[in-house]
Amino acid sequence: MPDLSAFIKGLPKAELHLHIEGSLEPELMFDLAARNGLSLPFTSVEAVRAAYDFSNLQDFLDIYYAGASVLLTRADFHDLAMAYFERAAADQVRHAEIFFDPQTHTDRGVGFDVVMEGLLSAMTEAKGRFGLTSKLILCFLRHLPEEAALATLAEAEPWLDQIAGVGLDSSEQGHPPSKFARVFAAAGAKGLKVVAHAGEEGPPAYVWEALNILKIDRIDHGNRSLEDETLVERIVADGLTLTVCPLSNHKLCVVSDLAQHPIKKMLDLGLKATINSDDPAYFGGYVNANFSAVTKAVGLTRDEIVTLAKNSFTGSFLTPAEIAAHLAEIDAYCA
Ligand code: HPA
Ligand code: ZN
Repeated sequence: MPDLSAFIKGLPKAELHLHIEGSLEPELMFDLAARNGLSLPFTSVEAVRAAYDFSNLQDFLDIYYAGASVLLTRADFHDLAMAYFERAAADQVRHAEIFFDPQTHTDRGVGFDVVMEGLLSAMTEAKGRFGLTSKLILCFLRHLPEEAALATLAEAEPWLDQIAGVGLDSSEQGHPPSKFARVFAAAGAKGLKVVAHAGEEGPPAYVWEALNILKIDRIDHGNRSLEDETLVERIVADGLTLTVCPLSNHKLCVVSDLAQHPIKKMLDLGLKATINSDDPAYFGGYVNANFSAVTKAVGLTRDEIVTLAKNSFTGSFLTPAEIAAHLAEIDAYCA
């Protein structure tokens, strides 16, 4: 098996599943805590990294929300996003569709406008410095009531021209997509794209609900769709993209071993899978690390890697002309 890491490194790609709060590296966590006069329940960066040993999604979420508590000011959100963009640009990410969790911040008294202004200023800077384009996807926290999501959508109203879509994240089990039917209908009526985490830990029934009730444009994770043949046929027929996150799946025990990861099977079934980093500071790597690790673990071919990169653009919310330009760049790189 040839080492495809060098090929992956230079391959133009998009990232469609990235929680900006999940890109908070422990070093920056300490810097921001010091800047804001906060203390952390850890004595060192090494102690933080040692705590990143999860047996399920909730284990991770508990520590992820604790980490996000250092984010207070516009500058904090700017610096967080800029650190991600620098890493993404180094991985030849040309376009990123970024999740953010406003409720994680507004519930601590941080203004919605503070979050937006910080993220948007970094997005403008990344476009200027790296030519890296990006869009924002506002995620509702599914462990909270739908009323809280509706209030968040109302707070987002003045910013909707700067937000591409809405998503659904946090604790999946016990919080089915149907719980958010009204807020997703309202978001869709405003012309926003809609995506949802489904089938990461939750059953295929949750993916069905995301399709039929939330009317999603893209599926985040979707791994457990493979347990339902009819569901797979439906996703293929609809041409929906899956934003798959291999290192996350391994760290959160969605797969017991990376060698058991179903990415190859997804492609073989005709699913439009993509590779993404999810929460790279917590799961051990950015997008290229995800490509390389899963390539090595399951033996992806060069053609499969190219398909995954092309899927990242065709599954994006860019315009057809923008997508065509990115696909042409991939073809030129491969030639
Ligand atoms: N799943 C659900 N919620 C999340 C995740 C995830 O992988 N990352 C951040 N919030
Ligand atoms: Zn996620």
